[in-house]
Amino acid sequence: MLFEQVNSIIAEIEQASPDTPEALEQFRIRFLGSKNVIKALSGEIRNIPNEQKRDFGRLVNEAIAAAEAKFQALKSGLDAAVEQISAASLDLSAPGEPGIWGTRHPISITMNRIIRIFERIGFVVAEDREIEDDWHNFTALNTPEDHPARDMQDTYYLRGSDNLLLRTHTSSVQARLMNVQQPPIRIIAPGRVYRNETISARSHCQFHQVEGLYVDEGVSFADLKQTLLYFAKEMFGATQIRLRPSFFPFTEPSAEMDVYLGTDTEDNYRLTKGTGWLEILGCGMVDPAVLDNCGIDSERYTGFAFGMGIERQAMRLFGINDIRLLFENDTRFLRQFATVV
Ligand code: PHE
Repeated sequence: MLFEQVNSIIAEIEQASPDTPEALEQFRIRFLGSKNVIKALSGEIRNIPNEQKRDFGRLVNEAIAAAEAKFQALKSGLDAAVEQISAASLDLSAPGEPGIWGTRHPISITMNRIIRIFERIGFVVAEDREIEDDWHNFTALNTPEDHPARDMQDTYYLRGSDNLLLRTHTSSVQARLMNVQQPPIRIIAPGRVYRNETISARSHCQFHQVEGLYVDEGVSFADLKQTLLYFAKEMFGATQIRLRPSFFPFTEPSAEMDVYLGTDTEDNYRLTKGTGWLEILGCGMVDPAVLDNCGIDSERYTGFAFGMGIERQAMRLFGINDIRLLFENDTRFLRQFATVV
């Protein structure tokens, strides 16, 4: 009876054909696990008559060996099959997963366009710090303390200092450069600036500027006008500019420049409030007092300067209607400029 049982287990082992990892595990548990069926039967040896004990033991060992051999054979077959499947699903010629590329910010795109236009006529880029001292941002530029013009550019002072501030314009770069370099100077200063303004769809407490400075012997207002006309043509395709008298403490005379966009398109009509003219920048002849403050001989040299904001131009260029979008860095917004250069 017990012999028959072992024999039928051996037969079961030989016939078994598990073909999944799960079925193989069931096989292992049934025949090789810690509570396997062979073990259970081998405990019965005490009920076997003595003269048959040896044969019974041999048969049980045969069953164990059969289970082990079958398990090893099945396992290597299954491993090979799994390997084959995963090799088949690995297609080395398949195209790669596309990486996520950064995109240029619309401010950078606009700024770079402006820079390239001026570089073509010999201006070089000058950059400097955003945390400025009072002298370079205001005093050197003819805006001493308590001068009413400071109200035009109210800014943030660093805590515990009444000398260090966030620069309100990149004119401070011009002041720094003139301090260390004698004319001819022909630079543009792009960069981030700050003013104490309420944040809304139209204004922000941080924005970007490109300012220009040209100082040499004999630089005249006519040079300024031609330079600006060239810029307006290149940047806006405009054929006309208009200079309106204005005031800046560091230039004399001073002007605001408008470009003529016309009213042909709905955008231009709205943007120019129906006049066709869009205000772009402030400019003027560098006040001789500024040259003197910065160690440049105002008897010998003259110069012009101009400064413009980037955000409005970027908004016009790309049809953006809220300045805050430019500072939130929402990638859904920024990705839209991926193909613009
Ligand atoms: N710095 C001025 C501003 O930020 C712009 C400007 C620059 C005007 C140079 C005249 C000359 O408003």
